[in-house]
Amino acid sequence: MRSRVAESDSDLQAYVDTWNAVSPGDPSTVELQRKRRDRDPRRLCLLAEEGDALVGCGFAGPSDSPGRGFLSPQVLPHARRRGNGSGLLRELATHLDSLGFTSASTHVDGEDEGSLAFAAVHGFEETDRQVEQVRVIGGEPRPEVPAAVSFVTLSEAPHLLRDSYPLAVEAYADMAVSVPVTISLDDWLDGDGAGVPAGSFFAVADGEVIGLSGLCAAADGGFEDGLTTVRRGWRRRGIAEALKRAKLAWAAGNGVTEIVTWTQRGNDGMRALNERLGYTYRSVSITLRAPLPLRSV
Ligand SMILES: CC(C)(COP(=O)(O)OP(=O)(O)OC[C@H]1O[C@@H](n2cnc3c(N)ncnc32)[C@H](O)[C@@H]1OP(=O)(O)O)[C@@H](O)C(=O)NCCC(=O)NCCS
Repeated sequence: MRSRVAESDSDLQAYVDTWNAVSPGDPSTVELQRKRRDRDPRRLCLLAEEGDALVGCGFAGPSDSPGRGFLSPQVLPHARRRGNGSGLLRELATHLDSLGFTSASTHVDGEDEGSLAFAAVHGFEETDRQVEQVRVIGGEPRPEVPAAVSFVTLSEAPHLLRDSYPLAVEAYADMAVSVPVTISLDDWLDGDGAGVPAGSFFAVADGEVIGLSGLCAAADGGFEDGLTTVRRGWRRRGIAEALKRAKLAWAAGNGVTEIVTWTQRGNDGMRALNERLGYTYRSVSITLRAPLPLRSV
């Protein structure tokens, strides 16, 4: 196996096609990769080849947790069990090591026994789990808006995205994960916050954003819940439920047939709310971490 950095548009297209073939549940696009790498050149996208044939790809770069790296080798099914994954992992881990990171995390589909075995062989241990819940859109009545707040969409008031950044920071700090995750203002404005403007709802009280529930268009053409959060002092008043119901009503009126959401295993409140709203469970994604340098490579 030989690997090289994906630089040109055609390389990045090959990288994205390979990634999407191996991990269709986590789709990406050339535009997204290009934009993210322009912002942070520490992001490394590799292509893996045997002779002239593309057999896999891999990513390594900073994770959402300060000071920690993230990596993921991806090998096409027909090219597995002959060292390609380990070869990619070695280069990805070496990259993170050279950037000064002392640990690497990765994500593996909870039902993919082979990839979990691979991760274990290389010293990765589970730290967190995220569950995927899916809501099929039917006839969705518009909810009553709770007292003292008004609902506004991002398309009606684009400035609310920037205004809601402190609320997003609070929400990320509250996430049920083993190490804190953070979000930069750029990432909030550009990716995690900015979704489908007409389907992303903000709860405003006295001119301040006190809750939000975003809707994102996934790279495979599907729709995904963005962040849903309510400011600490405003919780348990039905605001999150009403925000999500407003989003479901918008989805029903705009041809959306299904919305997917990912929630941390320990986030009982959000999962219970999703269950009440009719979301059903689909898959599980496991987060694993290993110290750097990797002992196995
Ligand atoms: C994980 C993945 C990258 C492994 O790629 P690969 O090229 O098959 O890996 P390797 O050939 O280097 O495997 C190295 C060792 O890992 C273990 N391993 C790999 N696949 C395994 C499987 N299906 N069952 C059991 N053990 C496995 C074995 O110990 C293997 O050594 P061996 O073949 O001598 O027994 C590949 O399965 C994949 O792309 N999975 C989906 C993406 C993913 O989850 N990536 C993140 C992984 S950290």
